[in-house]
Amino acid sequence: MRLSIIGSGYVGLVTGACFAEVGHHVVCVDNDSEKVRMLRSGRVPIYEPGLEEIIRTNVATGRLRFTDSIEDGVEDSEVVFIAVPTPPLPDGKVDLTYIEKVAREIAGVLRGYRVIVDKSTVPVKTGEKVAETISRYNRAGAEFDVVSNPEFLREGCAVADLMRPDRIVIGANSDRAAALMKRIYEPFHAPIYITDINSAELIKHAANSFLALKISYINAVAAICEASGAHIDDVADGMGADKRIGRDFLNAGLGYGGSCFPKDIKAFIAIAEELGVPFGLLREVEAINAAQLDRFIKKIRDALWVLKEKRIGVLGLAFKANTDDVRSSTAIALCKRLADEGARVVAYDPQAMAKAAPELPGVEMRGRAEDVFDGAEAVVIATEWKEFRALPWASLKGQMVTPLIFDGRNILDAGALRQLGYRYTGVGR
Ligand code: UDX
Repeated sequence: MRLSIIGSGYVGLVTGACFAEVGHHVVCVDNDSEKVRMLRSGRVPIYEPGLEEIIRTNVATGRLRFTDSIEDGVEDSEVVFIAVPTPPLPDGKVDLTYIEKVAREIAGVLRGYRVIVDKSTVPVKTGEKVAETISRYNRAGAEFDVVSNPEFLREGCAVADLMRPDRIVIGANSDRAAALMKRIYEPFHAPIYITDINSAELIKHAANSFLALKISYINAVAAICEASGAHIDDVADGMGADKRIGRDFLNAGLGYGGSCFPKDIKAFIAIAEELGVPFGLLREVEAINAAQLDRFIKKIRDALWVLKEKRIGVLGLAFKANTDDVRSSTAIALCKRLADEGARVVAYDPQAMAKAAPELPGVEMRGRAEDVFDGAEAVVIATEWKEFRALPWASLKGQMVTPLIFDGRNILDAGALRQLGYRYTGVGR
């Protein structure tokens, strides 16, 4: 089928590339001409495993192309996906100005029937607004349907998530649109859930908030483990073995960050309140997440007594492993907090240093993980990169002033490190 994707950010770009990979003809539209030029020249603006390769092969086969013209995209497609940013406003609500603007622009160039699909994460009832807006600006009077098709991909494994999704959610109020959407997703062999538009929009916020709730729940239990001498890994395994609960997203640590969870939870709270349904449960999820970093920094302070002028190595700056994304990264917040207390922070991340550096002017970046141990009084693991497990721990101890390890992601073998002579502190361990 012929598809266009408006917005070449994370979701738009990966979605476009994966649609092309399964055989659709895709035009990715972005109003940033520099980005379009970059993509046309074969360079990809984000680090995402596997993405560059599928973009390259699909551009070569002619199934994927890039343009800065919405008219070009809409003209050359049966279905138009909107994947533009929906950033948070200061009060936690969602800024829908990009969606509204794109809806107007699509309306201005609509000439024949098109399905307009909202892929961005939006508050419930946004689809209704998009449909009203398109009707208002649709001078040619062209037929159209609006569909909600939320995206559940995770950064760091976005291509795999998109190619092998758990489920596809299609919120459509017309059979014609639903049938076209089903055809797009047939090659992905995933269960398809057809709902009304409002329900599809809610599924996305409800799912993300539930995952964040799982993380805050296990972090709250981790605090009880610390107070009682129990082990969070065993507790999480024992709980997670129950199929109704599941082991995923029960990893205690510094808490959740990223471009989605913090923003989506705030938005869901705001949406619920606007609808007259206060959502105190999610406020507690947020409070536990914020307290998680406070509690962890207190552990470092308790061990070092004074942080001022202490050299602290930090491993990891991305908000999670396998990405260079540092948006709402807890690792960045941790570095800032340590630096604010006067510590000399030396950091390393396998992918995120370039994006992190402008946010951390007082922090020294190092080219290798091993280098953050030089003269350090403590080393903190702030992101769950697997490669940190494989560091030469036996020899690194000798580079440190005092061998203190604070594992904010519980990725290291505590027993093995203690045997090597480190003083190891994790979360709930
Ligand atoms: C999330 C959702 O998983 C995805 O479905 C949605 O489309 C976008 O938001 P993403 O933001 O890429 O994806 O990251 P995710 O893997 O969910 O992790 C979010 C945060 O939670 C990270 O900071 C991660 O470190 C943290 N996390 C995750 C935990 O602290 N413990 C866990 O058990 C899992």
